[in-house]
Amino acid sequence: MLEQIQETASFIKTKMQTAPETAVILGSGLGKLVDELTDTYEIDYKEIPHFPVSTVEGHTGRLIFGKLGDKDIMTMQGRFHYYEGYGMKEVTYPIRVMRELGIKKLFVSNAAGGTNPSFEIGDLMIITDHINFFPEHPLRGKNISYGPRFPDMSEAYDHTLIARAKEIAAQKGITIREGIYLGTQGPTYETPAEYRMFARWGADAVGMSTVPEVIVANHCGIRVFGISVITDLGVEGKIVEVSHEDVQRAADAAQPRMTAIMREMIQ
Ligand code: HPA
Repeated sequence: MLEQIQETASFIKTKMQTAPETAVILGSGLGKLVDELTDTYEIDYKEIPHFPVSTVEGHTGRLIFGKLGDKDIMTMQGRFHYYEGYGMKEVTYPIRVMRELGIKKLFVSNAAGGTNPSFEIGDLMIITDHINFFPEHPLRGKNISYGPRFPDMSEAYDHTLIARAKEIAAQKGITIREGIYLGTQGPTYETPAEYRMFARWGADAVGMSTVPEVIVANHCGIRVFGISVITDLGVEGKIVEVSHEDVQRAADAAQPRMTAIMREMIQ
């Protein structure tokens, strides 16, 4: 496993013209951040040895490197979801490669269903913590020497970055929520009973990504910051039929606010 990761990283390094320490997973609501990059160069996932290739509609697969302002960054356009059939090793493979490439900070976004009754569709939620409800743990198996066998998760989402995001949102007059993201396998959205259960467990939002990558980033010593766009509501009395199109529409509508905060955070 480690050997494969290192082979992948060696290949990418041969193509790299910069040495970014910041990586961004361009999840829902953040896709347009690439339009703001200058001096870009790209590597298709399919060219990269041992790299998984994304299958889901609306997600292409490539690494895009460039400058955001004067900051060198690396972005992932297209992530790997467990519901697509990938194992956890594949879902989190890029994060381990990032570790080999020298990445120190990771920025992520996602779409999520709000289970907090005070949330509304279109809200942005800084992820302060998570609940891992995936059926397989990404660190199951032989420990890779990036981190300890039993990693601490007391600050999975960096408190300094969270504080900074709140300042930025306040300065920009952007309303921002904070809360706990519960990661579940999907691909079904939740039944009303499931939304209610997750809310009682302490979740403010539920989605189908992010948690595996964040666990592995923590194991790799990479600091994480994440924002969810609330695209639908899993709140009693407000639950309506939800489709992927509805989710995408709500995420797109939140894009300018999400991008404004992330741009400033990254810089
Ligand atoms: N549940 C799970 N994943 C999601 C949701 C949801 O309600 N909305 C967007 N992604």
